[in-house]
Amino acid sequence: MASPIKNVAVVGGSGNLGRAVVSELVAAGFNVTALTREGSSATFPAGVSSKPVDYSSVESLTAALEGQEALVSTIATVAVAGQQPLVDAAVAAGVKRIIPSEFGINTRFLGQEPIGKILQGKVNTLNYIHEKWKQNPSFTWTGISTGLFFDWGLPYGSIGLDKATKTATIHDSGNEPYQATNLPLIGKAVAAVFKHPEPTTNRYISIASFNPTQNEILALVEKITGEKWTVNKVSTAEQQKIGLEKLGKGDYSAFSHFLRKRIHQDGAGLAVQGPDNAIELLGLQEEDLGGTIRAWLEG
Ligand SMILES: NC(=O)c1ccc[n+]([C@@H]2O[C@H](COP(=O)([O-])OP(=O)(O)OC[C@H]3O[C@@H](n4cnc5c(N)ncnc54)[C@H](OP(=O)(O)O)[C@@H]3O)[C@@H](O)[C@H]2O)c1
Repeated sequence: MASPIKNVAVVGGSGNLGRAVVSELVAAGFNVTALTREGSSATFPAGVSSKPVDYSSVESLTAALEGQEALVSTIATVAVAGQQPLVDAAVAAGVKRIIPSEFGINTRFLGQEPIGKILQGKVNTLNYIHEKWKQNPSFTWTGISTGLFFDWGLPYGSIGLDKATKTATIHDSGNEPYQATNLPLIGKAVAAVFKHPEPTTNRYISIASFNPTQNEILALVEKITGEKWTVNKVSTAEQQKIGLEKLGKGDYSAFSHFLRKRIHQDGAGLAVQGPDNAIELLGLQEEDLGGTIRAWLEG
């Protein structure tokens, strides 16, 4: 990539992840423009310009992306399947690097698992981007897998801890390490990709703040609170069964059941440790699990 990236557009910058991405891009010195749905009530920090767009219109999106060298999409899960006009517009506007709305499990390795059916919108978008790169080699991409959003998931409940009742949900043995990342680190990773784009050109990378086991997390919450927590044991085989029943009825809330099975089942082997964690490639460091949990418990 000949010239450095200065102007970055963010899609979904008002969302759970988008706010952290906008904040870290601003902190890293980029000129940030947030694209937002027409009629959205989203607001953005001082210094961030916002442009209302129609996500179904290549024309509207191309006009909004004029002058942008990079684009990161943190669009909502429900909207990931509709990103083709955005990709077409990015190519038309001369965007040099796109990071699509991935930010979860690595969608390049889904095998035949039913969770892949629910993630087709992400898979198809990245496949489409790759085809566009073949036709326009100056249009490049980076995919980022983050595992579970850890700091966001603590109050949301997706880490399996309830501090009000001091209850922990533990799947299978609880000894399987899993990939988890705090939102600010994801924002820093996006900024690092745009600061030094070459090493991640057309690459799908995985990052993690840490790779804890459920039992390590339980030991930490008990140590910090000085109390024994109630443990609710859950089988991932049962989660898979519930997921299949839901999917059979077209209920996509099956996702969270398949996810539990995928990441927590004994022997899953999906932690991203050592060189598998691209955090060092981006010039960043793993984070303090205990500090993250303590901040939530004391918050
Ligand atoms: N790994 C994890 O644990 C985890 C957890 C949650 C999400 N994710 C992933 O992270 C990415 C971002 O998710 P998020 O939770 O941050 O997104 P979100 O907060 O639900 O939504 C982000 C933004 O998308 C925009 N948007 C555009 N079209 C929309 C539509 N049809 N409906 C709703 N919003 C729409 C909205 O911004 P405007 O109003 O400004 O248009 C919204 O604020 C997704 O790929 C998601 O799958 C991962």
